[in-house]
Amino acid sequence: MAIAFDSSLVSAELVKEACSRIEPYVHRTRVFTCDQLSQLATDASGSSRKLFLKAEHEQKVGAFKIRGAINAISLSTADYVVTQSSGNHAQAIALGCKLLGKTAVVVMPEDSPAVKVSAVRDTYGAEVRLCKPTQEAREAMSAEVVQELRTKHGADKAEEIHPNQDPRVVNGQGSVAVELLEQQPDLDAIVVSIGGGGLIAGIATYATNFTDCFLAPLRLFTEVVMTALQNGTIADLIQLGFADLVLLGMQVRHGLNSAPNIDFRSKQMDITKPNYTHGDFNFEALAVWQQQTKVIGAEPEAAKSAYMSKKAGMLVKNPPNTAIHTIADSVKSSLGPTTYPIVQELVDAVFIVSEQEIEDATKFVMERAKQVIEPGCGVAVAVATSKQLYEQFPDLRNIGVIMCGGNVDLTQLPWMRTKRQLEENGSEQSLKATKTQ
Ligand SMILES: Cc1ncc(COP(=O)(O)O)c(C=O)c1O
Repeated sequence: MAIAFDSSLVSAELVKEACSRIEPYVHRTRVFTCDQLSQLATDASGSSRKLFLKAEHEQKVGAFKIRGAINAISLSTADYVVTQSSGNHAQAIALGCKLLGKTAVVVMPEDSPAVKVSAVRDTYGAEVRLCKPTQEAREAMSAEVVQELRTKHGADKAEEIHPNQDPRVVNGQGSVAVELLEQQPDLDAIVVSIGGGGLIAGIATYATNFTDCFLAPLRLFTEVVMTALQNGTIADLIQLGFADLVLLGMQVRHGLNSAPNIDFRSKQMDITKPNYTHGDFNFEALAVWQQQTKVIGAEPEAAKSAYMSKKAGMLVKNPPNTAIHTIADSVKSSLGPTTYPIVQELVDAVFIVSEQEIEDATKFVMERAKQVIEPGCGVAVAVATSKQLYEQFPDLRNIGVIMCGGNVDLTQLPWMRTKRQLEENGSEQSLKATKTQ
């Protein structure tokens, strides 16, 4: 397949390299399931589905962002790293620089919540420069800061690391897919929230490109073997060491020392004494393995740059100079020149969800799965449990969902606001009632 993006900058191999590079600094997050969430997906689709949740909300800084930040900082020759962000990337750059012995300067809007400024400055030790709360002011100030640092310390001593368009960041974010496909290789799809598209671009690059390169020949081989098995030529295949070859294939794909946990044999078999019969093989599991893992994007209706871009076949940004109203504040960005071609080429579909759906999904995860997630993560959960996904892709059974972040101001959650409004209204009414008595 012709790929329009520059594969010398973002590729499955670079993602794998990033994964090894950042390993000492990040958590290998767990993959967990929640019966009640899987049940929601089952109800939405009408038949059994299982969701596998990759716990990046438990990652350092509470989001996957540390992966891309560490990869980019490690590859940078600069001693001073500048970024403009009020969100998870700011914290990731601040912590990344602290861990790697560099200096971070973070440009933040002056109306940023005090708790975020404090996390970047006090917890992670970055220098914070406050600017007017507009995109233009942020960009202008970070360019000024880079210039100032270059003049002071040397031209190659300071650089800005973009939160989602820097290829080193994209490769770093892709490491989520390397881990997830090792932990749960038989996924039919991975659902990912999209802002600027760095996370999904890294995941799609690894999941699809790696499958094309390494898995396709193995799948063809498996198909031939399955047909032969069904035609009863099993003795020949035993001679060929079928089980060993499939196991080896899985190991090659996932770079493992032992095979991942796919039960493609129906019972425990000693592969050193291959006296298998047709009944020993679990054809259903093998058939699952034939499928390509799809990559599905998730966006709020209020910030649907990827959805619009895919539809138009060209990069469409969220309208400039217009306030974007969504509770999913971490996914308000638009795709950009690095991520658009990758999303266009490798992402199977992008779905949008309403504010109510995002709120419901976020609340459901907190109440039922007992996990603190931010609404930006609720976007992916909302899509993974929506009817629209299974109407378009009825064959999805095992679905990975990236629980991308858990940084949330618990007092500002929409249902808390509603409760507070009710209380305020209620107390106003009781106040009025008291006065009129
Ligand atoms: C928690 C969380 N989820 C998803 C995203 C979207 O990532 P990207 O901008 O790489 O698409 C972000 C970006 O800040 C985030 O912080």
